[in-house]
Amino acid sequence: MKRFVSPFDYAGTIAKALKPDGVLLTAKADTQVNTMTIGWGTLGIQWGKPIFIAFVRGCRHTKGMLDKNPEFTVNIPLGEIDPKILTFCGTKSGRDTDKFAALGLHTEDPEVISVPGIRELPLTLECRVVYTQQQVPEAFLSEKFRKIYPADSQNIHDDFHTAFYGEIVSAYIIE
Ligand SMILES: Cc1cc2nc3c(=O)[nH]c(=O)nc-3n(C[C@H](O)[C@H](O)[C@H](O)COP(=O)(O)O)c2cc1C
Repeated sequence: MKRFVSPFDYAGTIAKALKPDGVLLTAKADTQVNTMTIGWGTLGIQWGKPIFIAFVRGCRHTKGMLDKNPEFTVNIPLGEIDPKILTFCGTKSGRDTDKFAALGLHTEDPEVISVPGIRELPLTLECRVVYTQQQVPEAFLSEKFRKIYPADSQNIHDDFHTAFYGEIVSAYIIE
């Protein structure tokens, strides 16, 4: 069962979950459902709509999946979860691991988009990507942040993050 909520009633919960532990971002492309840990994310309003912006590095398997099917769910824990879930999903790749099977995670059918939620991380944002922005080295005004990336990057698309602006089309708690 789903209890529908306003994402902004949970803004503090979402921000505190992002740092330091992270939340999950789930994508689906072709027949594969894959999830990865994200620690960067922004909840707000743009174009008059509720938006969650996720920042996904080009080398992630998830990046290719989002390019194919530009929809994702954000899966936020409420209360304690096994810390192994976020560590595992933040270190293993869906290229060679079925993270759902390995961790015994259970999917929940979505309401609006094609990507499921995850019962173990019940606060769910269904997001449809409406805008993407490739981040580039020359746009940094602060060396403190620029130096997170390789100084001699030959492949911006692999090394830098893309911002995926997801319109939040449904938000709920899986009960
Ligand atoms: C706490 C934590 C936060 C992370 N945050 C992000 C993030 O915001 N963006 C990103 O691209 N990768 C982030 N990662 C790394 C990905 O989760 C990791 O590379 C993952 O294995 C990618 O999975 P995939 O290859 O199946 O897409 C984070 C990892 C951890 C442990």
